[in-house]
Amino acid sequence: SLPTAVKIVEVAPRDGLQNESAFVPTDVKIELVNRLSQAGFQNIESASFVSPKWVPQMADGADVMAGIARRPGTIYSALTPNLRGFEAAQAAKVDEVAIFGSASEAFCQRNINCSIEESIARFEPVAQAAKVAGLRLRGSISCAFHCPYQGEVSVESTVNVARRMLALGCVEIDICDTIGAASATQVGRVMRAVAEHVDPAMLSGHFHDTYGQGVANVLAALQAGISIIHASTAGLGGCPYAKGATGNVATEDVLYLLHGMGIETGIDLDSVVDTGQWISSHLGRKASSNAGNALAAR
Ligand code: HMG
Ligand code: MG
Repeated sequence: SLPTAVKIVEVAPRDGLQNESAFVPTDVKIELVNRLSQAGFQNIESASFVSPKWVPQMADGADVMAGIARRPGTIYSALTPNLRGFEAAQAAKVDEVAIFGSASEAFCQRNINCSIEESIARFEPVAQAAKVAGLRLRGSISCAFHCPYQGEVSVESTVNVARRMLALGCVEIDICDTIGAASATQVGRVMRAVAEHVDPAMLSGHFHDTYGQGVANVLAALQAGISIIHASTAGLGGCPYAKGATGNVATEDVLYLLHGMGIETGIDLDSVVDTGQWISSHLGRKASSNAGNALAAR
């Protein structure tokens, strides 16, 4: 049976913008987060405390966090690959930190420059520091289905990394289709396999829409007992270390699906549509959301 309510983790300010080649001014990033706050999201991934040499677009994370107007009830989260990133995130007063690993060795190397085993060792002090600081810890697992470098990823690899993330103390674990290549059947299979080891209430689906499977995969995840979904307003995004991968499934499309099915999100779709049109015009392109563009044209 489907959930009656779904939590959306809005990732446009981070996953959405990180791949933009032209630097997006800090005040635009701040306005994006503020508009999303007003739409009612429970969690907005707002920044990334990674090496600015690796991802220059995210270099102003501390300024973004300092400039936003925080809505009570919204968690402002950020990516933290190592202790240095954690310390910067903590100083910037984020509410939740996310460590990010991979179910594929090849992608782990390309994205964070270490093996899966080394990544877990690197996450340990971050997890420990988060515990001491009383900060929520989230764990993202890239290439949980397919890898741009090594093809289909085994269910066991994803289950194993999920178990490691759980042992590290993650309270939420993201099962990520980095290149958007998963089928709905595969999503159901992997989610159910992971849910044998991790409470499904802690699992989220993070789907990129490269092959147009995002909305179908969201539904497959819900059918597998998942009730947390990541999405990006205007379908913004892509990962610099996954060539050709486009943005996450558009938030407007996901909300249209969920609200149409009578599933509550607490989010104002019209406001997200406006924000999607606003940020897209700022970036000089059409929004990558069917529902968003259709609703904006009404
Ligand atoms: P490294 O080179 O192995 O590590 O990078 P290092 O410790 O030797 O550091 C290299 C340089 O970065 C040094 O500077 C450090 O000081 C600096 P230098 O001495 O050369 O001047 N540095 C930092 N600076 C700022 N903040 C930090 C930090 N750490 C080191 N936290 C590292 C390892 C993890 C740092 C690097 O590989 C990195 O930053 N990778 C980030 C990759 C990334 O952000 N990818 C995109 C996000 S993941 C994603 O999009 C997938 C997701 O959406 C899910 C999905 O869809 O699959 C989450
Ligand atoms: Mg992603």
